[in-house]
Amino acid sequence: MQNCQKQHPPERGPEGKMQNCQKQHPPERDPEGGMRNYHKEENIMAIRNVRVEGDPILRKKSREVREVTPKIRELIDDMLETMYEKEGVGLAAPQVGILKRVVVIDIGDGPLVMINPRVVREEGSQTGDEGCLSIPGKAGQVTRPNDVTVRYMDENEEYYELDGTELLARAICHECEHLDGKLYVDIVEGGLHDVVPEDEEE
Ligand code: NI
Repeated sequence: MQNCQKQHPPERGPEGKMQNCQKQHPPERDPEGGMRNYHKEENIMAIRNVRVEGDPILRKKSREVREVTPKIRELIDDMLETMYEKEGVGLAAPQVGILKRVVVIDIGDGPLVMINPRVVREEGSQTGDEGCLSIPGKAGQVTRPNDVTVRYMDENEEYYELDGTELLARAICHECEHLDGKLYVDIVEGGLHDVVPEDEEE
């Protein structure tokens, strides 16, 4: 995901296949690895409460977003802030108690905002550890497609198609499943194990 470039959905490269592009260049990060410069002066973001497994809202199906209203923008900003605060690589709106089809993802290449995401292609498979902010301190082996294509709308109501492999493919599948009330523990292989938090002082 290094050679990202801005793209508009109907346009395809000469190869006829979209690259692993993001809609925007990742913002510059501070040395702490945070994303302080995502803050906009006029928009104070808030950390939202992350629902944990057992909360019935995590099992409900989320509704499509028809229009990106100021309230949806606020939700997106808060979801990003919450994801970074909790050091997750993805967060879905039902995890903060909102049953709308909105996810945010950042696998380390900058934020992706996906509204009404739909996985339209899955290829290959990968098996690896997966965790979820709604199941804190735990992880387990999950098999996912290794390569997916997802279609979605961004916060500016522009439509995109994105190819993702490996961790990004895993994150896309995981977050999209949240929108249908599914959790990775439903498909985990061999049970959960404890995750020791990484030492933040490096
Ligand atoms: Ni999750």
